[in-house]
Amino acid sequence: MLNTLELATHGPVIPVIVIHRLADAVPLAQALVDGGVRVLEVTLRTPVGLACIEAIARSVPGAIVGAGTIRSAADARASHAAGAVFGVSPGYTAAVGAACRELGLPLLPGVATASEVMAAQADGIDFLKFFPAVQAGGIPMLKALGGPFPDVAFCPTGGVSPENAAQFLALPNVKVCGGSWLTPADAVAAGDWARITALAKATAALRQPG
Ligand code: 3PG
Repeated sequence: MLNTLELATHGPVIPVIVIHRLADAVPLAQALVDGGVRVLEVTLRTPVGLACIEAIARSVPGAIVGAGTIRSAADARASHAAGAVFGVSPGYTAAVGAACRELGLPLLPGVATASEVMAAQADGIDFLKFFPAVQAGGIPMLKALGGPFPDVAFCPTGGVSPENAAQFLALPNVKVCGGSWLTPADAVAAGDWARITALAKATAALRQPG
């Protein structure tokens, strides 16, 4: 079973992907992998989300595909069955945590407050998504959380962009960030896979040394 911190070793950005047409799943994932971005969060926000995860897991070698928007134990079970190798949730509940533990599905749960960090940590999880990052306090909030929680690492997601990603990644408690900018809706709708590969390649420059 993958340790979620390993997800941060493949690159500085985990794309948050929303797919509306199943036929887009494989070429979109391939475009990201071709650009050096292998860790892919495919959200369950659309009816085809699970089928997209299944298709990518089956047909895109090199992709490390996870499910985003896990909100319940049932979502976790369906994601695991579809072939997701990790899960991301917008918040944390003990029920989602327990389901993922039972499944052996590594979970990157969202938190936005100190109490939520404590709840996730009490269940053994100390790599957390900070969501929605900019709206919930951004860089000053991450610095503040670093005081009482020096042993917790974060993946800020929500409002992270090419303009501010390097600043987030420079924080000692940020290992990787999440964002939707690698897969713009208009590029996906147009099947502009070359643009998505170029956006993926550009993320390599964001990686901070150390
Ligand atoms: C989302 O809510 O879709 C994700 O957190 C990504 O947010 P973003 O579109 O601000 O990158």
